[in-house]
Amino acid sequence: MLATTDGDRDLLALADGLFAGERDPWANAANAAALLFERLPELNWAGFYFLRGGELVVGPFQGRVACVRIAPGTGVCGTAAARRETLIVPDVHAFPGHISCDAASNSEIVVPLLSGGHLLGVLDLDSPRLARFGPEDAALLEAFARRLVAACDWRLAGIDDFAGAGS
Ligand code: SME
Repeated sequence: MLATTDGDRDLLALADGLFAGERDPWANAANAAALLFERLPELNWAGFYFLRGGELVVGPFQGRVACVRIAPGTGVCGTAAARRETLIVPDVHAFPGHISCDAASNSEIVVPLLSGGHLLGVLDLDSPRLARFGPEDAALLEAFARRLVAACDWRLAGIDDFAGAGS
């Protein structure tokens, strides 16, 4: 079990405050991307892809313009989505099939957004620093993602295979 630092607790508390009383997925995802990009050091991209029409389609993000559609199973995002598990890539140039959106990116972490067995999409963070992300980041971002998933009414988001009640 990884220790939770004060900084982590701050970020999760900020997320709780940000999402409190708001159930709209796009509103919460937009603020989530902004919060992560502002609070976590050494990022050049932070945002979401959501599963819509059989593909991962870019959602709210901070950073340079990104590729719009990713097929499940391709790239870092599609691989994490297909496996339904967090993927840490220390060097994106060594990852077969990595989709390069910003030449500045050197490492990446992708966390699936899961609700009741449904894949909603992924949270994706890129860094210009090699090996920027480790197990502590995975634990923090998974906790962050669980808060976002629980906060929203995903029926409003047009996500595939998701007609679940409430969150
Ligand atoms: N690198 C990702 C594509 C998304 S961007 O990094 C914003 C991938 O390989 O799936």
